[in-house]
Amino acid sequence: MKKIAERVKVVKVEEVAKGFGKTIRIGELEIALFRLNNDHFHAIENRCPHRGGVLVEGIVSGQHVFCPMHDWKIDITTGKVQEPDRGCVRTFEVEVIGEDVYILFL
Ligand code: FES
Repeated sequence: MKKIAERVKVVKVEEVAKGFGKTIRIGELEIALFRLNNDHFHAIENRCPHRGGVLVEGIVSGQHVFCPMHDWKIDITTGKVQEPDRGCVRTFEVEVIGEDVYILFL
Protein backbone atom coordinates (compact mmCIF):
# COMPACT_ATOMS: atom_id res chain seq x y z
CA MET A 1 0.00 0.00 0.00
CA LYS A 2 1.26 3.46 -0.97
CA LYS A 3 2.18 5.90 1.72
CA ILE A 4 0.68 9.32 0.94
CA ALA A 5 2.45 12.31 2.42
CA GLU A 6 -0.16 14.78 1.29
CA ARG A 7 -3.35 14.81 -0.81
CA VAL A 8 -4.36 18.20 -2.17
CA LYS A 9 -7.83 18.77 -3.66
CA VAL A 10 -7.28 20.88 -6.77
CA VAL A 11 -10.43 21.01 -8.94
CA LYS A 12 -13.80 19.47 -9.63
CA VAL A 13 -13.89 16.98 -12.53
CA GLU A 14 -16.22 19.27 -14.50
CA GLU A 15 -13.70 22.14 -14.39
CA VAL A 16 -11.38 20.46 -16.91
CA ALA A 17 -12.70 19.66 -20.38
CA LYS A 18 -11.68 16.39 -22.02
CA GLY A 19 -8.56 16.82 -24.13
CA PHE A 20 -7.45 19.95 -22.27
CA GLY A 21 -5.41 20.95 -19.27
CA LYS A 22 -5.60 23.38 -16.40
CA THR A 23 -2.84 25.16 -14.52
CA ILE A 24 -2.65 24.27 -10.85
CA ARG A 25 -0.49 26.29 -8.47
CA ILE A 26 0.52 24.78 -5.16
CA GLY A 27 2.99 27.01 -3.38
CA GLU A 28 5.95 27.48 -5.73
CA LEU A 29 4.92 24.52 -7.88
CA GLU A 30 3.15 25.01 -11.18
CA ILE A 31 1.48 21.86 -12.43
CA ALA A 32 -0.35 21.07 -15.67
CA LEU A 33 -3.35 18.90 -14.91
CA PHE A 34 -4.69 17.18 -18.04
CA ARG A 35 -7.93 15.33 -18.60
CA LEU A 36 -7.41 12.93 -21.48
CA ASN A 37 -10.19 11.91 -23.83
CA ASN A 38 -10.38 8.56 -22.01
CA ASP A 39 -11.37 10.60 -18.93
CA HIS A 40 -8.14 9.84 -17.05
CA PHE A 41 -6.46 12.70 -15.25
CA HIS A 42 -2.67 13.14 -15.24
CA ALA A 43 -0.45 15.84 -13.80
CA ILE A 44 2.99 16.96 -14.93
CA GLU A 45 5.27 19.86 -14.27
CA ASN A 46 4.03 22.80 -16.35
CA ARG A 47 7.41 23.70 -17.91
CA CYS A 48 8.96 22.08 -20.93
CA PRO A 49 12.48 20.74 -20.27
CA HIS A 50 13.69 22.34 -23.52
CA ARG A 51 13.24 26.07 -22.86
CA GLY A 52 10.44 26.31 -20.38
CA GLY A 53 7.39 26.35 -22.67
CA VAL A 54 4.08 26.30 -20.80
CA LEU A 55 2.82 22.79 -21.42
CA VAL A 56 -0.79 23.37 -20.41
CA GLU A 57 -1.01 25.66 -23.47
CA GLY A 58 0.07 22.86 -25.80
CA ILE A 59 -2.09 20.74 -28.09
CA VAL A 60 -3.15 17.42 -26.58
CA SER A 61 -3.25 14.39 -28.87
CA GLY A 62 -4.02 11.05 -27.29
CA GLN A 63 -1.75 10.80 -24.25
CA HIS A 64 0.75 13.35 -25.56
CA VAL A 65 1.06 17.11 -25.38
CA PHE A 66 2.97 19.16 -27.94
CA CYS A 67 4.89 22.02 -26.40
CA PRO A 68 3.58 25.33 -27.78
CA MET A 69 7.11 26.73 -28.15
CA HIS A 70 9.00 24.30 -30.43
CA ASP A 71 6.66 21.32 -30.65
CA TRP A 72 8.47 18.79 -28.48
CA LYS A 73 6.17 15.82 -27.87
CA ILE A 74 5.78 14.79 -24.24
CA ASP A 75 3.96 11.75 -22.89
CA ILE A 76 1.52 13.10 -20.32
CA THR A 77 1.29 9.74 -18.55
CA THR A 78 5.04 9.28 -18.01
CA GLY A 79 6.53 12.77 -18.41
CA LYS A 80 8.97 11.44 -21.02
CA VAL A 81 9.96 13.54 -24.01
CA GLN A 82 9.49 11.55 -27.20
CA GLU A 83 12.28 10.97 -29.72
CA PRO A 84 14.11 12.50 -31.46
CA ASP A 85 14.16 14.90 -28.50
CA ARG A 86 15.18 13.87 -24.99
CA GLY A 87 14.33 14.65 -21.41
CA CYS A 88 11.46 14.35 -19.02
CA VAL A 89 9.20 16.40 -16.80
CA ARG A 90 8.20 15.60 -13.25
CA THR A 91 4.95 13.71 -12.90
CA PHE A 92 2.49 13.73 -10.02
CA GLU A 93 0.01 11.09 -8.90
CA VAL A 94 -3.62 12.05 -9.39
CA GLU A 95 -6.67 10.60 -7.72
CA VAL A 96 -10.32 11.21 -8.53
CA ILE A 97 -12.75 10.67 -5.70
CA GLY A 98 -16.33 11.32 -6.68
CA GLU A 99 -16.34 14.72 -8.37
CA ASP A 100 -13.09 15.91 -6.80
CA VAL A 101 -9.60 15.69 -8.29
CA TYR A 102 -6.60 15.42 -5.96
CA ILE A 103 -2.87 15.61 -6.52
CA LEU A 104 -0.88 13.31 -4.28
CA PHE A 105 2.57 14.06 -2.96
CA LEU A 106 4.24 10.78 -2.04
S1 FES B 1 10.37 25.07 -24.96
FE1 FES B 1 9.22 23.27 -25.32
S2 FES B 1 9.91 22.58 -27.21
FE2 FES B 1 11.14 24.31 -26.80
